[in-house]
Amino acid sequence: MVSNLPPVIAIDGPTASGKGTVAMRVAAELGFHYLDSGALYRLVALASEKEGISVDNPIALGSLASGMQIEFKDGVVLLAGRDVSEAIREEKIGSRASQVAIYSEVRDALLTLQRSFRQKPGLVADGRDMASRIFTDAVLKVYLTASVQARAERRYKQLIAKGISARMNVLLQDLQERDARDTNRGTAPLQCVEGAYLLDTSNLSVDQAVAQVLSWYAELRNQL
Ligand code: CDP
Repeated sequence: MVSNLPPVIAIDGPTASGKGTVAMRVAAELGFHYLDSGALYRLVALASEKEGISVDNPIALGSLASGMQIEFKDGVVLLAGRDVSEAIREEKIGSRASQVAIYSEVRDALLTLQRSFRQKPGLVADGRDMASRIFTDAVLKVYLTASVQARAERRYKQLIAKGISARMNVLLQDLQERDARDTNRGTAPLQCVEGAYLLDTSNLSVDQAVAQVLSWYAELRNQL
């Protein structure tokens, strides 16, 4: 059945795989909207920390997630009207995000919001469960990954470039812990779904990765 809904390109993958950068570039090339679903889990992490809600309280986290006032405007993320674009990018918030993301209460609360990003002319969505749960009818599903060493090096460079001190061994361990939490959780675990195109970017530049996704999309679009 051909869908009348705007097309979606789903890009899933583990932490620090570079999927955000690739997804954003692909969206810009195609003039599509972009959903950074990880930012939503980071917002829950930040808001719950500020409100003193424990990461062990799924009910309170779920109700917080469904009541959050969020706005994405020109690359700026607003939470209840306050610019939190930088605060949600902190490492400790990323780590906390992967802890709150294990709960179905939190994930269900964010479902409708994520689907509302599907607008004309199309959407590029990045996350862990874009292909497996949120946009199961995505035209193109990409599983974007890289070796754990390559991902830790990328994260290290990113942090140093931002003037934030970092240690490789600590980053490696944190990455492995997040991988384990994302892959082993019962609700919407990170997975490479059937039909997804595997893109290992360990030895690819961002330009090459973007070109590959665009070429897969062009091929599939021609078949529609
Ligand atoms: O930057 P990084 O790839 O580490 O994370 P992110 O994409 O900003 O997402 C932060 C956390 O939210 C991840 O570690 C996941 O545990 C969780 N997440 C998720 O469970 N499902 C999604 N669709 C997106 C993120």
